[in-house]
Amino acid sequence: MDTTLLKRQAAERAVEFVQSGMVVGLGHGSTAIWATRRIAELIKSKELTDILAVPCSAQTEADARELGIPLTTLEQHPNIDLTIDGADEVAPNFDVIKGGGGALLREKIVAQASKREIIVVDESKLSPALGTKWAIPVEVIPFGYGSQKAFLESLGAKVVVRQKDDKTFYTDQGNLILDCNFGAISNPAGLAQRLKERTGIVEHGLFIRLVSDVIVAAASGTRELKRQN
Ligand code: A5P
Repeated sequence: MDTTLLKRQAAERAVEFVQSGMVVGLGHGSTAIWATRRIAELIKSKELTDILAVPCSAQTEADARELGIPLTTLEQHPNIDLTIDGADEVAPNFDVIKGGGGALLREKIVAQASKREIIVVDESKLSPALGTKWAIPVEVIPFGYGSQKAFLESLGAKVVVRQKDDKTFYTDQGNLILDCNFGAISNPAGLAQRLKERTGIVEHGLFIRLVSDVIVAAASGTRELKRQN
């Protein structure tokens, strides 16, 4: 089955949890965009009213503006009712890797401000252990990034400075992304802690205990999984 269709199915199912009056976080990427589009449709048809949205990236902000979704900020609304976002890799315990699109910092800020973080994926994103399929994106400030690269290598990662269209990729904050291939990670929470302690690392793509629901679209149907604890 076409992956784009699966992404759309997962995202649109998540939008069924959006209710009028909510402050909604809008994720970044080729899956989350389907949720943004569906929310815009429902606002237009007045099936959803009084929605305010916080976008997770400059791209999502531009998309939402174009689609006519009313926007707000975390200064005006520090508490988000529900966020719908994609992920690169999803572990059985709902910990995920994000940042394939480079928006991990704002995505994590929005996730931490959200009562409910719904991750929408096609089944190819499910993984037995984080790091099996995807490198961990680590956002670093440009100053001294060689030192961060050496630090990450000392932790066992193969590190690549992210490029896009043959140029160095810069995040919405003007930072670099170091994609760190650790292979399957036995203790993601421990690694997340090590990364947090390092000055110059702004944020990393390990989202530990931040996800409340995962919606998985597969050729055989769409499953909604809810964190139990
Ligand atoms: C953006 O920075 C990411 O965290 C995305 O949510 C993630 O990369 C999934 O993207 P796709 O939905 O495009 O696969």
